[in-house]
Amino acid sequence: MLYPKLKFPIVSGRPFFYTNFVQTVDGKVQVKVPGYWPIGSKIDYQVLTELRTYADCLIHGKNLYLEFGDITKKSLQKEEFKKLRKKLGKDPNLPFIVGTHDLKKLSSDLYKKGYKNVLVEGGPTLLGSFLKEDLIDEIFLTISPKIFGSEQGKTLTLVEGVLFPPNSTKKLKPLSIKPINDELFLRYSVEN
Ligand SMILES: NC(=O)c1ccc[n+]([C@@H]2O[C@H](COP(=O)([O-])OP(=O)(O)OC[C@H]3O[C@@H](n4cnc5c(N)ncnc54)[C@H](OP(=O)(O)O)[C@@H]3O)[C@@H](O)[C@H]2O)c1
Repeated sequence: MLYPKLKFPIVSGRPFFYTNFVQTVDGKVQVKVPGYWPIGSKIDYQVLTELRTYADCLIHGKNLYLEFGDITKKSLQKEEFKKLRKKLGKDPNLPFIVGTHDLKKLSSDLYKKGYKNVLVEGGPTLLGSFLKEDLIDEIFLTISPKIFGSEQGKTLTLVEGVLFPPNSTKKLKPLSIKPINDELFLRYSVEN
């Protein structure tokens, strides 16, 4: 495990939200034509699974869900995944939902359900909205040693749909950097 015994701080009045992405060195998280996926290695996929085991709820954006919702549901049903969750004292069945437009209400509803750690897996448009509302506390980011390049409208970067004004760009603090083979596994906290 890359993050054994991972612990997140308690946030007052809402869950602790964290996200996990893999991107190329030139910051691309997806290409809108086939052939580029997966961006990360098998180890990156293991880290994705590992980070899911710590969550009380998993959120996908609408487009991510359309693309990967079925695969995700299947992987959450795997006995090995459920066993890992049980070991951590978590409900073996990880609640899995699609993000909505009113994130303050969503956050409050999740808090009322008792969820402490909520994993927002993106996509970049949903992540942009969460960041805009100061609702992302940590970012796990895998840097894959690739450069995809770009043509207008064909690629997605980590955050889409929001441009933060120069005086209020998001500030991050690196918490850890773990190189494995050719990939870098970064963990940041976000100053909200
Ligand atoms: N490399 C990685 O680690 C990684 C991770 C995740 C996703 N991805 C890729 O990212 C792509 C999907 O990302 P995406 O940015 O296109 O879509 P997305 O973030 O999955 O979904 C965005 C859509 O969700 C709806 N939505 C509902 N509530 C929202 C809110 N509060 N804020 C923003 N949108 C909200 C909107 O559609 P309506 O207005 O129609 O409701 C919006 O267009 C996929 O291709 C996936 O493979 C890559």
